[in-house]
Order: sequence, then C-alpha cells, then structure tokens
Amino acid sequence: MSGFEIVRINDGTFDRYVDGLAAVLNAGVLGGAGVSFVLPHTMADSRRFWLDVVRPGLKADSRTLLAAMSGDAVAGTVQLDCDTPPNQPHRAEVLKLIVHPSFRRQGIARALMLSLEESARARGRTLLTLDTASETAKRLYLSLGFRRVGDIPEFARHPIDDRYDATTIMYKKL
Ligand SMILES: CC(C)(COP(=O)(O)OP(=O)(O)OC[C@H]1O[C@@H](n2cnc3c(N)ncnc32)[C@H](O)[C@@H]1OP(=O)(O)O)[C@@H](O)C(=O)NCCC(=O)NCCS
Repeated sequence: MSGFEIVRINDGTFDRYVDGLAAVLNAGVLGGAGVSFVLPHTMADSRRFWLDVVRPGLKADSRTLLAAMSGDAVAGTVQLDCDTPPNQPHRAEVLKLIVHPSFRRQGIARALMLSLEESARARGRTLLTLDTASETAKRLYLSLGFRRVGDIPEFARHPIDDRYDATTIMYKKL
C-alpha cells in the first residue's frame, strides 16, 4: 500500500475525522455493504452511528478505531471492540471494516487489518472474532489466517434488496 497512512483515532482526535468516517460508512451502505444498516441511509444516520455508538467506546478506551488516510480524506476504517465479559479478557471483536468505493483494491483493507492485529496484541487480545456477509471480505480474512467456523442463514437483511443474507462466523488466534 502506498500513499496511505493508518492512524489511530481516539476521543481527543475524533472530531477531526468524524465527517470522513461518516462519508465512508454512508458510501459503503449505499453501495450495498452489509454493515448493520439498510436504505434509506443518510449522512445524518451515519454521523449518529459514529457519535452515539463508537465515540463512547473511545472515551471508555474499550474500542480501537483505525482509519486509512489519503491526504485529508478517510479512505477506509476498521474497529476492534474490547468490551468483552470478564471471562473473555483475551477476545476482541473486529467490526466495520469498510473501504470507500473510490479507494478499493489498493491493499487498504489488508493494511488496516494488519494494523488492527498489532493493536489487539498490544492490548493483550489474542483471539479475534468477527462475522461477515461479504465474499470479498471473507477472501481477505482467510488470506490473513482467519478460520471459518460456519454460516448462519438469513442472518441480516440486505441493505438494498428485499432479502435476508447469511453471515459467516470467523476467528483468528494471534
Ligand atoms: C471488503 C473490503 C473492505 C475490501 O477492501 P479493499 O481495500 O478493496 O481490499 P484490499 O485491496 O486490501 O484487498 C484485500 C484482499 O481482499 C480480496 N478482495 C478485495 N477486493 C476484491 C474483489 N473486488 N474481488 C475479489 N477479491 C477481492 C482479495 O483477496 C484481496 O487480496 P489481493 O489483492 O492480494 O488479491 C471492501 O470491499 C469493502 O469495504 N466492502 C464493503 C464493506 C464490507 O463488506 N466490509 C466487510 C464487513 S465485515
């Protein structure tokens, strides 16, 4: 990956990035990404997610938020949620890996995931779990050493089409 920088966003720097993060999420959903939301999905909906769901985790330091920056533009993002129960201090959930459609196929998602794995190790998290409906993302996760546990049929509504898609549960031991 060249021309991009991976930055860790914390509560103190969040305001600088929130518009770019909202634009990436909104573009992803409008493009059909299965990342919790369905159409209609506005920039206001997107901002609300980052402010109401993600920011409290940054304040509590229970979430790691990474962004891939192309100059001042947020090209992609991923999160690690470490808000696990007391009996899972070693586990963390990978959430919302999204690369803006204009920046795909340049190795940004792979770079974000490798950086997220470093963050997980630094936090003492040695088991990563995730679920994904995306065949593209699955290929990436498998190439990074994630193992496929299985599929849950009709797990979530497609963001655009009137149908329910399966999700695939995956994990990686670091
Ligand atoms: C999945 C996604 C994050 C990949 O982002 P990206 O920056 O384009 O991915 P990369 O360039 O780092 O590619 C990494 C690997 O993913 C796979 N891949 C990415 N795009 C692909 C495509 N269009 N077709 C086939 N494989 C693809 C390849 O294995 C690729 O490795 P390679 O380039 O060595 O072949 C991006 O397509 C996206 O944001 N999708 C919508 C959101 C989503 O579904 N996220 C997953 C939620 S868990």
